[in-house]
Amino acid sequence: MRILMISAEYAPLAKTGGLADALAGLSDALSRRGHDVRALLPGYGRPLPPGYVGSRAERIAGVELRVAQRTEGGPTLFVVESDEIGRDGRIYLGDDRDGARFWRFSRAALDVVAALDWHPDVLHCHDWHASLVPALARRSTLAATPSVLTLHNAGYQGTFARGVLPEDAQSAIAALEDDASRARDWVRFLELGIRHASIVTTVSPGYARELRTPELGMGLDGLLRKRGDDFVGILNGVDYSLWDPESDPYLSTRFTRSDSSGKRRVKLELCGELGLVDDAPLVGAVSRLVEQKGIDLLVAALPELLGRTRARFAILGSGEAWLEATLAGLAASHRERLAFRSGYDEALAHRIIAGSDLLVMPSRYEPCGLTQLYAMRYGTIPVVRKTGGLADTVSHFDSATGKGTGCVFEHADAQGLIWGLTTALGWYEDEGVWRRVVANALQVDFSWTRQSAEYEALYRRSS
Ligand code: ADP
Ligand code: GLC
Repeated sequence: MRILMISAEYAPLAKTGGLADALAGLSDALSRRGHDVRALLPGYGRPLPPGYVGSRAERIAGVELRVAQRTEGGPTLFVVESDEIGRDGRIYLGDDRDGARFWRFSRAALDVVAALDWHPDVLHCHDWHASLVPALARRSTLAATPSVLTLHNAGYQGTFARGVLPEDAQSAIAALEDDASRARDWVRFLELGIRHASIVTTVSPGYARELRTPELGMGLDGLLRKRGDDFVGILNGVDYSLWDPESDPYLSTRFTRSDSSGKRRVKLELCGELGLVDDAPLVGAVSRLVEQKGIDLLVAALPELLGRTRARFAILGSGEAWLEATLAGLAASHRERLAFRSGYDEALAHRIIAGSDLLVMPSRYEPCGLTQLYAMRYGTIPVVRKTGGLADTVSHFDSATGKGTGCVFEHADAQGLIWGLTTALGWYEDEGVWRRVVANALQVDFSWTRQSAEYEALYRRSS
């Protein structure tokens, strides 16, 4: 099949989180299954990363287009540049300008595809940034091409006051809305995608169930329930060529999954790098610092955890200023016990996930979550909240049966998290128990090779 992915992120070209990893991992896996997979994304004025070659920019359909590929092959990338999308390297501006930028991107995506001499069998659009595409496609030369919309995070819906959008966007959107939506003075990009895509998916079965409920549906539950069987949850996968201790391109010390002394060396190096004393369990966190991720719960729990346990903490993240400031303050007053690095650092993310004993994810909601899947591959035990994809992928360890791959806690508050971490730290102190839970985590397989087959079946169903 000829499959076209349309997305704001694609690793490693443009990444702020798991969306980029999911796009690249799924595209690679489908391409390995023999499909002709291409992905269209904005270039944001960034240079191509090492390992990629690209054509010279060519003017087409009102934008500049570069065709790029990894030197060793794989999916073809259509990288779109324009002044209106922006060329200063930033993926999201986080304000009203994003409405115009991703409107422009969606329009350009369709115009570019119409101008190519390559015709997709399916358009696979991702998140609100590309969710106008299935709607706009209905009134274009691609009207007969099926479209799939994947919701990676329904917390971001592309909601804008009509007046902040360019006039051509306002009229095109109004033409696609129903009467009730048209009567509002705001628009919601994601809603149009949900209404018009041939099939809507999200990134775990658990999150699909949650999104159908008024409590957790973020105002989309009615629309999604209406889609019936055409709204499905498919769990994300992992690209184990990037996230495995034996092949991790970012680790200076690689180790086999059965070699606990190798993992210990990575932990020692990490503690040295971060100025932490390495004589105790190390708890890692790699996260966007936003409400969704419950990092405020971690901040609230840390004073008690530092007082009651001997754990060390290695935290990497960027996001809300108050969280960064509070974490920096805690690090300053607990040197050797807590290290915080703000910013985005791919290599350090790999080292923390690989070198920690525990990885904490106290998310309020989590569509899938990838870091817990990565962690298990390195024998790092995830401590996660029972929600969405976290609940689908981590099972709570039961010392009576010896089954379970991590620690799952229920309540989205500091006490819930303290219970989760102290429970897992208790396992760590018992060598036999710890060996068992680590062995269980190492055994799980969430490879894209398997998950991509589900998408393949879905594409066939949509056409
Ligand atoms: P989300 O997409 O909601 O942020 P996921 O768990 O799906 O959550 O994916 C997060 C991805 O982003 C992982 O690859 C993780 O390593 C990466 N990541 C998050 N924050 C940072 C950071 N500050 N530096 C480097 N990588 C990060
Ligand atoms: C989103 C979600 C995350 C998911 C990722 C990839 O960013 O927050 O849970 O893993 O997309 O699908």
